[in-house]
Amino acid sequence: MRADYDTLSKTIGALTEGESDAVALMATVVCELHHADARFDWTGFYRVTEPKLLKIGPYQGGHGCLQIPFSRGVCGAAARTGEVQLVDDVDSFDGHIACASSTRSEIVLPVRDGQGRLLAVLDIDSDQPAAFDQGDADGLARILEMVFGRIES
Ligand code: SME
Repeated sequence: MRADYDTLSKTIGALTEGESDAVALMATVVCELHHADARFDWTGFYRVTEPKLLKIGPYQGGHGCLQIPFSRGVCGAAARTGEVQLVDDVDSFDGHIACASSTRSEIVLPVRDGQGRLLAVLDIDSDQPAAFDQGDADGLARILEMVFGRIES
């Protein structure tokens, strides 16, 4: 089963309508994303809690590390650069942080509020190699913009 981002967008939009609390929104988004796609083995947010530091937020899957500085990992790279990280092989990503030894590929997207401020990153890990593509990046970015682009943080 592979995510249909148009359907997911409609579902998540309906579930989050009128809600502005970032953590409630994150919990709803990860729940819907995680159960929509068999490739997604870990789905979660890391929140910007102080300059240059990410802390774990709502997630689905095995336990994740609690803190990630912007200087480390795929999540730190997304937070530092503001760019989507599409990683086909985590073992070839310098500084990858392995929360599970089974992870083979990963996608991490920056999450911005209505003023364009970095709120968090969305991290999705897969046990399948090269599991993600530009279509996933585009579909996920549309959902994140729809949900978080309307809030003031
Ligand atoms: N792999 C991420 C760390 C988060 S755990 O995978 C949930 C990284 O390298 O930043």
